[in-house]
Amino acid sequence: MKRASLLVLIMGLLLFVLGGLEAQEVNQEAYDNLITHYAARNNFTAGTISRGDIEKILTAGLRAPSASNRQPWHFTVVQNRDLSGRIVPNMPEGNILIVISASGDGKTNAREILDCGLATENIYLAAQSLGYGSRIYTGPMDTINNRFKTELGLPSGHSAVALVRVGRVEKIDATSAASSRKNLNDMVTYK
Ligand SMILES: Cc1cc2nc3c(=O)[nH]c(=O)nc-3n(C[C@H](O)[C@H](O)[C@H](O)COP(=O)(O)O)c2cc1C
Repeated sequence: MKRASLLVLIMGLLLFVLGGLEAQEVNQEAYDNLITHYAARNNFTAGTISRGDIEKILTAGLRAPSASNRQPWHFTVVQNRDLSGRIVPNMPEGNILIVISASGDGKTNAREILDCGLATENIYLAAQSLGYGSRIYTGPMDTINNRFKTELGLPSGHSAVALVRVGRVEKIDATSAASSRKNLNDMVTYK
């Protein structure tokens, strides 16, 4: 009888501990956001983005990890349509550009570029978690760094590394909207 009670007690404790672990470790929504994002393009629509949402998106950028926690980035939010339209043409009213910059010429400092890449990804994903569309661009970096640094007011000595376009979107099926990815078995080696 004593032995049976002990067994029940141990099983109860085990269930309690395992149940607790599951609650702590599984964040399905966060994982789904990593798997279901896609780079919006033709489905961007007009419509405003509130200042509160812009700040939430930027806060996610700010929370990115960086080497030695140096946080080398600066974020420039371009809401002026005349200026943004000269960097990425044909943007609907209300779409914004967030330019991620760091000190250097934008090419040589691999560590800062990686840090900025992580902030860029956080911004890109945060925008989509809040229901907006987003797309990362590096194509316009030469144009920005050669012609628009002053007009954008980039911090002295900074060069743009990437930008994220954020805007309202017409809802489309995220699974079919995303481009296909390579096969996991072809891209991974276990040793
Ligand atoms: C570093 C980086 C640079 C990119 N630059 C551009 C760009 O200059 N122009 C553009 O249209 N898309 C650009 N993209 C978007 C990619 O083409 C897009 O994320 C990729 O094709 C995957 O598409 P999907 O998310 O819809 O599956 C860039 C993406 C990344 C990550």
